[in-house]
Amino acid sequence: MTDTPYDVLIIGSGAAGLTAALTLATKLKVLVLAKGKLTSGSTAWAQGGIAAVLDAGDTFEDHIRDTMVAGAGLNDRETVEFVISHAPEAIDRLCELGVPFNRESDHLHLTREGGHSHRRIVHVDDATGWAVQAALLKAAEENCNITLLPNQTCVELITGRHEERYSGSGRVWGAYALDTVSGTVVAHTARATIMASGGAGRVYQFSTAPRGATGDGIAMAWRAGARVSNMEMMQFHPTCLYNLEIKNFLITEAVRGEGGHLLHPETGHRFMVDYDPERMELAPRDVVARAIDDQIKRYGLDYVHLDISHQPPEFVMEHFPTIYDKLETLGIDMTKEPIPVVPAQHYTCGGIVIDLAGRTDLPGLYAAGECTESGLHGANRLASNSLLECFVFGDAAARDILARWDNFEAVPPIRAWDESRVTDSDEEVVIKQNWTEIRRFMWNYVGIVRTTKRLERAAHRIKLLHTEVEDYYGHFTVTTDLVELRNLLQCADLIVQSALKRHESRGLHSILDYPETAPLPVDTVLVP
Ligand code: FAD
Ligand code: SIN
Repeated sequence: MTDTPYDVLIIGSGAAGLTAALTLATKLKVLVLAKGKLTSGSTAWAQGGIAAVLDAGDTFEDHIRDTMVAGAGLNDRETVEFVISHAPEAIDRLCELGVPFNRESDHLHLTREGGHSHRRIVHVDDATGWAVQAALLKAAEENCNITLLPNQTCVELITGRHEERYSGSGRVWGAYALDTVSGTVVAHTARATIMASGGAGRVYQFSTAPRGATGDGIAMAWRAGARVSNMEMMQFHPTCLYNLEIKNFLITEAVRGEGGHLLHPETGHRFMVDYDPERMELAPRDVVARAIDDQIKRYGLDYVHLDISHQPPEFVMEHFPTIYDKLETLGIDMTKEPIPVVPAQHYTCGGIVIDLAGRTDLPGLYAAGECTESGLHGANRLASNSLLECFVFGDAAARDILARWDNFEAVPPIRAWDESRVTDSDEEVVIKQNWTEIRRFMWNYVGIVRTTKRLERAAHRIKLLHTEVEDYYGHFTVTTDLVELRNLLQCADLIVQSALKRHESRGLHSILDYPETAPLPVDTVLVP
């Protein structure tokens, strides 16, 4: 048996990964890897905030109901209860770490977002994620049991087939990662591994997610033998800025929560009245995104308008300073004029199947955060429930590892990465072209409204690309671009296969061939 310097490997330095690291570090040595910078995940980009029942007039039951209404009945009630009941303590921990949530006299200020029946979103202006990421990172950096290693692109999980004496077991012993500074692939071994690698948003041409959201963890876990579920439930945020240069700037849902109206850009008609007259702009995301998509297609528009200029200028600037500043640089004064917006991919509701302790199907592998399917979001995530899921499941996975630590076996000798492949620089152009091709056809064929024919077209293209990409991967030195291309394609395949399995329209999966919602909600679980 080899002695590894770290007890637990965590892949991902966002909200889920760092939360897990801080709980584990009370007793164990932890290595946290990030692809690129430590702040490269979606966590740092989050705007709106974190949902939690903190107001005397609000109840857990209301938050549970709102989550399940948004999730169109596909949520797992036990998971929803588990996460929502742990929300207040998660917020307390963040306060202890020094996250400077906005306050109103002696209590936290609560904003409102679509699908929530109460004000229950704690926030740091309109840049909550940055403040949370900074506080978690600071605490991790100060903890001598945590080592943070950026510039590590994990390529594959280490399992029984990588042991020097092949055991064939499905147990996970860490991961091989490309050190992008030295260009070598290193085996990071550990008795337990937590996948906290975020979502797969970049599989779509237009996404609010950062460049690295290529579903690496979902694809790695799938290839190692873990089940993946509900991948067809890709969430499109209704209001991404429409701009020819900047394609992924989010305009937080809190703008609608604080009174913003969605308007037809030519007639000024407040069109949500035609789609959801009761909830209007504060209907769940799938409803609002579909309404905007319909307006754009029906009237041949490039965008619709989001208008909050009827609120006092100081109110707008105080609530949305980041967005105000950004728009000002683009010549838009949101206190006086409407903002052009379009829907864009935003969140991956499906992912690696986990239980309430964050355990996957594979011994030694846990998972938390956006790369998972915990049962919380169902067919459509409720706004600001995602960061919450990261805190609750990051902590739950860590606690389970601590509780069972004596049963975690020492790591056997592991084979080094095969470095005998060659670089063929000619192929790098092709890798980029394939990236673009996948993202385009996913946007056009597997978007907000789907048809079986289009899904089958996408499946056909994926099949053709698969042979090509596996050929590069088998022959050439791994680069981050190649690793991401392979994972994007894998996730595209999982999304399309799941979408083809769901013969109904539910939540985020709207398919013209099956417009009705089936009486019984069933997960689309894929088994490797
Ligand atoms: P991430 O924060 O995405 O972190 C992933 C980590 O994994 C990164 O460190 C990355 O480097 C690492 N990684 C990935 N692949 C590899 C690899 N191959 N090798 C090594 N490391 C790897 N949710 C809310 O609840 N409230 C909000 O207000 C909100 N606003 C949002 C705004 C935007 C613009 C976006 C994009 C999302 C928003 N979300 C919001 C969603 C939320 O931010 C994410 O779901 C959440 O931050 C995911 O956290 P995570 O820890 O799972 O992953
Ligand atoms: C937003 O601020 O609109 C994003 C919130 C979320 O994704 O939960």
